[in-house]
Amino acid sequence: MTPPTISRYSQLFPPRAEWTVAEIPDLSDKVIVVTGGNSGIGYETVLELLRHNAKVYIAARNQAKVDAAIAELKRQPGVKGHVEFVKLDLADLRSIEAFAKEFSTREKQIDILFDNAGIMENTPGKTVQGFEQHVGINSIGTHYVTKLLLPLLKAATAAHPESPARVVFTSSFLHINAPEHGFSAEDPYAEKDLPEGMSMPMRLYGTSKFYNILSARKLQREHSDIVFTAVHPGYVRTPLLGKGTDLMSTLRHYFVIPWITLPQKSGAVTQLYAAFSEAGLKKGAYFVPYGREAATIPAGDDPKVQDAFVEWCESQIAKNAAA
Ligand SMILES: NC(=O)c1ccc[n+]([C@@H]2O[C@H](COP(=O)([O-])OP(=O)(O)OC[C@H]3O[C@@H](n4cnc5c(N)ncnc54)[C@H](OP(=O)(O)O)[C@@H]3O)[C@@H](O)[C@H]2O)c1
Repeated sequence: MTPPTISRYSQLFPPRAEWTVAEIPDLSDKVIVVTGGNSGIGYETVLELLRHNAKVYIAARNQAKVDAAIAELKRQPGVKGHVEFVKLDLADLRSIEAFAKEFSTREKQIDILFDNAGIMENTPGKTVQGFEQHVGINSIGTHYVTKLLLPLLKAATAAHPESPARVVFTSSFLHINAPEHGFSAEDPYAEKDLPEGMSMPMRLYGTSKFYNILSARKLQREHSDIVFTAVHPGYVRTPLLGKGTDLMSTLRHYFVIPWITLPQKSGAVTQLYAAFSEAGLKKGAYFVPYGREAATIPAGDDPKVQDAFVEWCESQIAKNAAA
């Protein structure tokens, strides 16, 4: 059955959650990686995992920030699991490779990978290998780290086929800002034909988040022993939203954002739902708050668009292979 289109309003102000984090099972024997687990939605995700006894790795770029986050996590009530830092900078393909190598010396399997880390910037920027920063970090870096971790995810499924490994990509409702055709190798940053009223940063961010959906669905077609899903976590009060640099955005930050955003804690619910609910086993599904399957833009369902993006993405990675 085709999932329903869920209105913008209902995604912004979702109905009460039917599934809650209390339904997460005991995770004593689980190894879980959360990229960007030191902040915002990732932090809340790690907190719930630790409350359910998981062994969690926070894969992030800044050790000092992660150390501070871990100290704070350990002060939270009900925290029982084990948490460690592993260095990962998604803006650098070499760092992604070093991370995957280091990680495979520490663990032989990964039960769940939360591809949560991401950026939303107002000013232009590039990654170490020269990709536009949103597509470079949110899409290419995230796709590459997932590819490199596939052997460990497959090992987890092989060890317990009744509960296959899962990968959850944190996408966004704003994936609707991607071009209608979805992807073109001639214009991978979707800079052409910018719709009236849409800023370039919002185009780039939305497009990069749409590419997460394409990655999830293409990887799903290639690797049936793992479950890949994507989620919109909600419009959530986290550091991602920034404080703004001009008067209008500062006023918006203090007087508008608090009324229309969900608290940070609620931002973790949908990705935890994808990782632990029965419904989250639906391969290639896309979920919105708080755990409702929803339609993506039509191009997301097109295998040719999925193939074209992943082919381009992997060709960029290959072109920039380590010497
Ligand atoms: N907040 C929302 O309303 C919203 C809505 C839809 C989707 N999302 C998505 O939700 C995810 C989490 O965002 P959030 O709102 O929780 O924001 P956040 O608090 O800013 O967290 C983002 C995390 O990603 C990490 N990160 C950024 N660049 C990285 C890089 N190059 N390498 C490794 N890690 C990197 C950040 O690390 P540092 O702390 O070192 O910067 C941080 O840990 C993102 O993918 C975002 O696109 C958020």
